[in-house]
Amino acid sequence: MELKNKNIILGVSGCIAVHKSLDVASQLVKQGASVHVVMTSNATRMVQPIQFQVISRNPVLLNLYDSKDDWQPPHISLADLADLLVVAPATANIVGKIANGIADDALSTVAISVHCPVLLAPAMNSYMYQNAFVEKNLQKLRKNGVNLIEPASGLLACGHEGIGRLEDVDVILDRIVSVLVPKRDLVGRKVIVTAGPTREYIDPIRFITNRSSGRMGYAIAETAMARGAKVTLISGKTHLEAPANLEFRQVETAAEMRKAILDDFDTADVVIMSAAVSDYRPSEYSSVKIKKTEEPMTIPLSRNADILLDLGNRKDPDQLLIGFAAETDNILQNAQQKLVSKNLDLIIANDVSAEGAGFEVDTNIVSIIDGGGKCDQLPLMSKHDIADQILNRVVQLFQK
Ligand SMILES: Cc1cc2nc3c(=O)[nH]c(=O)nc-3n(C[C@H](O)[C@H](O)[C@H](O)COP(=O)(O)O)c2cc1C
Repeated sequence: MELKNKNIILGVSGCIAVHKSLDVASQLVKQGASVHVVMTSNATRMVQPIQFQVISRNPVLLNLYDSKDDWQPPHISLADLADLLVVAPATANIVGKIANGIADDALSTVAISVHCPVLLAPAMNSYMYQNAFVEKNLQKLRKNGVNLIEPASGLLACGHEGIGRLEDVDVILDRIVSVLVPKRDLVGRKVIVTAGPTREYIDPIRFITNRSSGRMGYAIAETAMARGAKVTLISGKTHLEAPANLEFRQVETAAEMRKAILDDFDTADVVIMSAAVSDYRPSEYSSVKIKKTEEPMTIPLSRNADILLDLGNRKDPDQLLIGFAAETDNILQNAQQKLVSKNLDLIIANDVSAEGAGFEVDTNIVSIIDGGGKCDQLPLMSKHDIADQILNRVVQLFQK
């Protein structure tokens, strides 16, 4: 009864996967939640409201103007009551309406009236999901703190194959629980997270860098903070906003990143190195802009210090050191080798060439390998969900 006394609004929109939300409603009731279903009129063409009414043991809100018993408009009374609004499945249409503050039916009006966390589980054909406007709307929602359960890939009801399938009921329930009953299992722990790319300057204008967006590291830092840790985020230059309530150190070069980590390393319980640190830097820096000539140009490079190796050699037995291996081939073997050679406790292997994984996207596909060689291959997930999985392993290692 993990959800006892929780009031959950379950929004249901007109998507082919709507039958799964009957199961979601039923599981939520079993967990002790009070479930209040709001359906769009298109959703009622897929499933009868009476089914949700019986399962949720509450009336289903279909229309804002039919309320007879309450002096307050129904969207306000529901919004005031709610601990969580979850829309599952969420059509491209409701995603667009919520992202743009449109309130032209019961569900979209409830969505802009709530003052509780919002969780959306989009589901649609993959071309719809990858449509530029739908992508922009999803991006806007993420930026504004809306929790998304990214859809899964596979054979879709429309006959296409690809991303867009509503996640399994278990995954949706896990996310509901994690939003409503956040874990506080890192209280008292100090976590250093590195994120983003480094820049190695050639002259005052040009530098060598890489495609890291920093999103994975920022997700880890935010999730560790939500779970109670004291977090220092050491970040290369990214387009992301520094999260509030943590110690944020902005760096540019690999040498600056190394210094920032070493300054704090001895006081940390765990260091998670998700930054993409440049292995090389230009051997010489020109303090004036290098002028072009007709000749081809060669830039000699020198090796940067190997930060992970240094930390692995230096770490205490009760400190945890976690690395990332961004690979394009022989992913698991390369990651396993790196884990051993750098004395890591965990390594997160990342196939950066896979669709939906790696740089500049909000999702990733990773495998988590531990010191005993155990390898957990995770499906496509949001970077925040992956962060949660990594931190679950961290907590298990601390318990050992
Ligand atoms: C059989 C059928 C299945 C549909 N499945 C989806 C879907 O999975 N995802 C989606 O975004 N739209 C889907 N649509 C389209 C939406 O129902 C349509 O965009 C509608 O305007 C959404 O309204 P609502 O968001 O108010 O429920 C489907 C339509 C039909 C007829």
